[in-house]
Amino acid sequence: MRRYVEQLSRADSLLAQTLERVPLLPRPPLAAEWLRCEMLERHQVLRHAGLSRGLRVLEVGSGGHAITTVPLALEVGSEGKVVAVERSRWGIFQDVVDASGLAERVRPLKADALALPLRHDSHDLAVCAHGIRSLESLENMVAVFREMLRVAPRVLVAESLPLAQNDAQRAHLETYNLREEIFEAATGRKDDLHYLPLETLEGLVRKAGGEVERAETLEVDLPHALAYLPRDALSSISDRPKRERLLVRWEKAREMGERFGTDHPPVGLVLARRKAAERGAASGRPGRHAAGTERPHHR
Ligand SMILES: C[S@@+](CC[C@H](N)C(=O)[O-])C[C@H]1O[C@@H](n2cnc3c(N)ncnc32)[C@H](O)[C@@H]1O
Repeated sequence: MRRYVEQLSRADSLLAQTLERVPLLPRPPLAAEWLRCEMLERHQVLRHAGLSRGLRVLEVGSGGHAITTVPLALEVGSEGKVVAVERSRWGIFQDVVDASGLAERVRPLKADALALPLRHDSHDLAVCAHGIRSLESLENMVAVFREMLRVAPRVLVAESLPLAQNDAQRAHLETYNLREEIFEAATGRKDDLHYLPLETLEGLVRKAGGEVERAETLEVDLPHALAYLPRDALSSISDRPKRERLLVRWEKAREMGERFGTDHPPVGLVLARRKAAERGAASGRPGRHAAGTERPHHR
């Protein structure tokens, strides 16, 4: 957590105060500050994208810890709003948002991003940060980006890239790349897909009707706490040869992690706007799936 503390000491006071309100979550082997550290990473990404105050932002795939939601709420300021869409994993979302002091800017919405119950252009910007990995397939990614571009004229897509510039990033990729196969072998469901190259992300956004304005790579220089799975996670894999192959890779990843630590790989950012043709065609038209209403999520 040395780099987290260093970066925090250089951060502006509003960010530092907000992160200090976020609960510490002791979850060995993770440091208790892991959630704050991940939020700092998301904040770097959002700052790099240059969000402005007062925006109405739709966030897709907010997850159970509001890791992107809190820095988004900070960046849009007191005049802005964040609608945080999540299909299923609410976890401690509301507790974290409440603790951050920014709950008035955040509206949780339980919905499937493949069919958002939101009106065309009801938001200024739609964001999916570190959530693309959970969208299960390339087809879903395109469909979700298309929905984002219907609900807002601009989108920001950010995700880790399959690139490593040092041993700690290599250790992260070795660890992270086990997740897709372990989840699929153990549960049959898709999650934490391998990271995609920046050009692929750009291509998916274009296919969804976006005109790419900026596509960039960002180095965040922070540890990545979340990729690790305990050895037990492999025990329910019934295909024995597969389990043994994965165990060999798990051991290698663990050794690398212990030796070098695990760092965030470079993050790819794609900022895009709805293509002119789609802007014309879409204007005034009710959304493909939109009911025209927003359903707030109640815990
Ligand atoms: C990696 S997690 C959380 C990402 C979070 N933004 C962050 O900064 O870490 C991605 C989330 O997307 C959610 N998700 C996946 N597909 C979805 C869909 N079609 N609609 C809404 N949420 C979805 C998953 O349930 C998961 O909680």
